[in-house]
Amino acid sequence: MTSIETRVTDADNQAHGFIGNHDNPDLVTFSPRVYGDWRDDFHKNGCVLIKNVITPERARYYREKQIQWLKNFDLGFDENDESTWNEEHLPVSFKGGMYFAYGSPHEQMAWEARSEPAVIEIFEKLWETKELISSFDGMNISLPRRKDLRWSPWPHCDQNQKRKGMQAVQGLLNYAPNGPNDGGLMLMRGSAKLFDEFFAHKRDSYNHEDAPPPEMEFMDLFLFSEKDVEWFKERGCELIKVNMEPGDFVLWDSRTMHYACLPEGEQIRHVQYICMTPKRFATPEALEMKKQCFENFIGTTHWPHCNIRPTKEKPMRGEVICSKDRNEPFEKPELTDVVLKLAGVKAY
Ligand SMILES: [Fe+2]
Repeated sequence: MTSIETRVTDADNQAHGFIGNHDNPDLVTFSPRVYGDWRDDFHKNGCVLIKNVITPERARYYREKQIQWLKNFDLGFDENDESTWNEEHLPVSFKGGMYFAYGSPHEQMAWEARSEPAVIEIFEKLWETKELISSFDGMNISLPRRKDLRWSPWPHCDQNQKRKGMQAVQGLLNYAPNGPNDGGLMLMRGSAKLFDEFFAHKRDSYNHEDAPPPEMEFMDLFLFSEKDVEWFKERGCELIKVNMEPGDFVLWDSRTMHYACLPEGEQIRHVQYICMTPKRFATPEALEMKKQCFENFIGTTHWPHCNIRPTKEKPMRGEVICSKDRNEPFEKPELTDVVLKLAGVKAY
């Protein structure tokens, strides 16, 4: 007997796959069951840390690739010279280190990370299928002690309040030591389970200083106010900082409140965001849009199977497009069988 029932809703057939119908139930329902592995914690808390998914050596390889990527822009960034750890010497990022532009979601290193067998295995176990597709997500390279940044916490979740149940699960592959002072992922443990209760009536997304303008139509982004954060804490949720070692992986239900903190210690934060869902969740239209994104090195949201919102915003320096803007990766991905299948462009 399978523990997962799957149902692709009618509304999911809309362009962009946005499920805007309150009457549509969960895309996936997980029946209670004991797995005897990390899935028990995941289903209980809506998040889980999975240790040693890749080796420390492999993590070092990715750290070096990410540093090289920053240097490829020829803006004078030097990882050994802290005076270059600022906007002037770095490509344009969001919240001090998230990179989505410049074709970065399709760099060889991003696709290599998505293709790591142990990473794929996590999502295979979670969704109980080998036929997965991946988001074209960004990475995070956050330099500590930057003096040119104004930063504030931005608790949010990446699932629209109209979508019910667990419809997407996000992950990050961690490359660098990540202790209490090293910034990183903050998670409101337990908040995924309270998603429906919190959104039982319509809520307005908090007008955070870094909130994207409504015309950008992210759809699957909700920013929480301080009052909202308290609402979850009062109901037993706990805001935790996930400490990690190189090679660890964190998985969280997209209904979970979370945000990324800037590092304050000595260590640069190195992360690749990775999300995978069953290919069968995607409509032909969504797959076609993914194909367009894949072929043109365009990023997407965290959602692999719907809300395939092509990241077309240019990296801006004030009012001006970054002079280093580019439409393709420095190192194009090797088009392996695994890559093409995860991109949704090749049949399983
Ligand atoms: Fe997020």
